[in-house]
Amino acid sequence: MGAKIPMLDLGPEVEELWDELRTALDATLRSTRFILGPNVVEFEREAAEWLGVRRAVSLNSGTDALVLGLRALGIGPGDEVVTSAFTFVATAEAICRVGATPVFVDVEPASFNLDLERLAAHLDGPAGERTRLVIPVHLFGHPVDMDAVLSLCEPRGIPVFEDAAQAFGATWRGRRVGGFGRAGAFSFFPSKNLGAYGDGGLVVSDDDSFADTVLELRNHGALDKYEAHSVGYNSRLDEIQAAVLRVKLPHVDAWNDKRREVARLYREGLAGLDGVETPDEAEGAHHVFHQYTLRVRDGRRDELERRLGDAGIACAVYYRVPLHRLAPFAQPPGTELRETDRASEQVLSLPIGAYQPEPVTARIVAALRGDQTGG
Ligand SMILES: Cc1ncc(COP(=O)(O)O)c(C=O)c1O
Repeated sequence: MGAKIPMLDLGPEVEELWDELRTALDATLRSTRFILGPNVVEFEREAAEWLGVRRAVSLNSGTDALVLGLRALGIGPGDEVVTSAFTFVATAEAICRVGATPVFVDVEPASFNLDLERLAAHLDGPAGERTRLVIPVHLFGHPVDMDAVLSLCEPRGIPVFEDAAQAFGATWRGRRVGGFGRAGAFSFFPSKNLGAYGDGGLVVSDDDSFADTVLELRNHGALDKYEAHSVGYNSRLDEIQAAVLRVKLPHVDAWNDKRREVARLYREGLAGLDGVETPDEAEGAHHVFHQYTLRVRDGRRDELERRLGDAGIACAVYYRVPLHRLAPFAQPPGTELRETDRASEQVLSLPIGAYQPEPVTARIVAALRGDQTGG
């Protein structure tokens, strides 16, 4: 067995950026400005420009980007928010945190994103009247068809808040995701396509009054320390993380291209493997492969997980328990989310990252192929 292969190795990235990081961090330390200083201001400006939006407000996590965004959109107790149950727990958690109710619509099998035909049926049904917001999740880095989402929601007067936590740099028909809806949320958890070296998050919007509300909420409900206008939070991105993110932002497109190259090697290497489907890229979508997620049919997932484990290769099941099967997010009796359940039973995510060397990808492919021949 060769050296162990983790899901993601950030070592080569830190090595490559070492001098730039040291310069940025040294300057930040010497400045002794650690909260709401120049790095935060500049990072927000650079990120807004990069994403093609008017405003970007940084926060201390992607979860808070969702929570404060929901607050600024006026979502609260009694409101129903439609999203997917096949996502990270934070999506539904944020909805509950503001006192609203998550309502799940099934996913479509190819991308694992919201099934837009089912979303249309839901909004046309009795629950449509109660829906105050739709949160599409660009899962694993594959963009949702935002034209279709907006054409369903806009005529009904329902705002859209994109959970783009996993899709920094993904585009739909050439436009970066996050900027399509009324607002968009990103996470800078270290493993994300743009990751900080700690927690961080971002909310984006073209709407100044929304962005100003988030600015207040993140700082105890006050732009001025002593004049709270609302009950807020302490949710500021710190200067050290902002300095790291400013070093990393210019590299994201090249890194996403490298992830796509790893994905290409996987797709070619795994073609024709029994029971294994490699991820699709819809027409109009530019997938940034935050995760490289297979669908493994015929009940063979456990066996493949074991085989990878035996070869010293990490893998992960995102998400083994869909949110509607977790007590805090239980849905009314009779709710059926068949494709969501099926996805949870069949998905398997493989290691991927911008710096993943070709021989590592080849070893993973060989381990999976070896499984089929029993070798
Ligand atoms: C889809 C999704 N939404 C929200 C979040 C929350 O982000 P964070 O971990 O930065 O709070 C994540 C992150 O892991 C995520 O994957």
